Parts: sequence; C-alpha cells; structure tokens
Amino acid sequence: MKREEIVAFHNVHKSHHLGEVEIKALRGISFSVKSEKFTFIVGKSGSGKSTLLNLIGAIDSPTYGEITINGIKINSLSDDKLSDFRAKHIGHIFQNFNLMPVLNVYENIEYPLLMINEKKEIIIKKVSDMIDAVGLKGLEKHIPSELSGGQRQRVAIARALVKEPSLVLADELDFLDEIDKDEGTFVEEKSSVDIRSKLNFQINDDQDDDVILFLHLGKHE
Ligand SMILES: Nc1ncnc2c1ncn2[C@@H]1O[C@H](COP(=O)(O)OP(=O)(O)OP(=O)(O)O)[C@@H](O)[C@H]1O
Ligand SMILES: [Mg+2]
Repeated sequence: MKREEIVAFHNVHKSHHLGEVEIKALRGISFSVKSEKFTFIVGKSGSGKSTLLNLIGAIDSPTYGEITINGIKINSLSDDKLSDFRAKHIGHIFQNFNLMPVLNVYENIEYPLLMINEKKEIIIKKVSDMIDAVGLKGLEKHIPSELSGGQRQRVAIARALVKEPSLVLADELDFLDEIDKDEGTFVEEKSSVDIRSKLNFQINDDQDDDVILFLHLGKHE
C-alpha cells in the first residue's frame, strides 16, 4: 500500500446548525497524514477536534471541500459504500465511547467483526485475544452500565482495534493528559515509538499501515 497520505483534507469546511444559528466548526482545513504515523490533533474545547475526527471517520460529511482516506475520495461515496468503507477501514474510539448499552463486553467487541462477516472461529479467537490484551477477562458478560469509566474505555479501544483497521481514531484518551495545551486546533506528528511505549496494549507491528490519530484536550473545565 502507498505509504503516503492515508488522510488528506483539502479546504474542508464543516458547519453545524443549531436552529437558525450556523456554527462554523471547521473553516477551510487542509492537511495530510502519512501512514505509519501517530498524529495528534490538539486544541481547546469547542475548537473542532471531534468534528474533524468524525469527518475522517466518515460518520459525518463536510459542508464543503474534499476528503481522501486510504486513497479513496469519501465525499463521492454513496451511503452504502460509506458504511462499507467505515466497517473495513476505520476503528473509532468515541469521546463518549458509544458502546451499545444492551450488549455485553464480549458482544460489543464482537460487533465490528460481525459487520465484516468474519468467520465464527476467527471471531471467537480475535475477541478473546482482545479481551485479554485490554485486561477485561472475567467481565465478558457485563453490560456497559456495570463497568467503571476506565473499563468502558477499554471496551471501546478493544472494539476499535479488533478488526485491525488501517486507521484508528481516538477521541480524548486519558493517558495523553500530559500533552501541553495550545490555542486552536493543529496537527502534530509524533514518533510512533514514543506513543507505543505509552500504550498498555500492543498494536500489531506487522500492519504496514497503522495510523493512530489521538484527539486530546478541551476538557470542559
Ligand atoms: N451536532 C452539533 N450541533 C451543533 N453544534 C455542534 C455540534 N457538534 C459540535 N458543535 C459545535 O461545533 C464546535 C466544535 O465542536 P467539537 O465537538 O468539534 O469540539 P471539540 O474540539 O471536540 O471540543 P471538546 O474538546 O470539548 O470535545 C463547537 O462550537 C460545538 O458547539
Ligand atoms: Mg471533542
């Protein structure tokens, strides 16, 4: 796979509408992210980090501009193709985790593999390996409301990584608290070695297109 520009934004605008009010969350953003890099997007609360991540994750579409992910221009895809694209390529750890409240730990982590029609034996192996990796063994049958905040976050991480997506999007992970605050939103690439050492789970080194985007900061203080 081409190692450059796993994510490319060209003059992307995104407005949200609250009744009559238009909130211009992103105003003409252009940037690219190379594969095999960990990239942080840092900015204060309300600066547009989650908005940006939702566009990369193809769960929202831009008001204007062009977005290319994994070489695919995602703005021009139909809704069906877009869902397919998300299921295959994107692991998204949401700011509020978005776990399915009626599904237990095992079922939440299994879900993305069912979406891509993975084989039953492979599902069983991958889900239990992932549960081990994030330290949730013994909690398989618990539903999210029976877990602590940190445990829920680990389910969300496991659910995002279990299908080995080419792009992992992580919105505000706790262990990145030490990064300096700054005004506005910007993108900064960091050496993957630094970041890997901070993760308490292993990311598959064989993947040649591993990218993690971490969103950080902007806590509502
Ligand atoms: N669904 C929405 N409807 C209306 N306005 C929205 C919506 N989502 C976000 N916004 C607005 O867009 C701006 C950017 O919000 P966003 O959630 O992207 O910020 P953020 O940088 O992720 O903040 P935080 O660090 O607090 O999570 C804010 O002014 C917010 O109020
Ligand atoms: Mg946010």
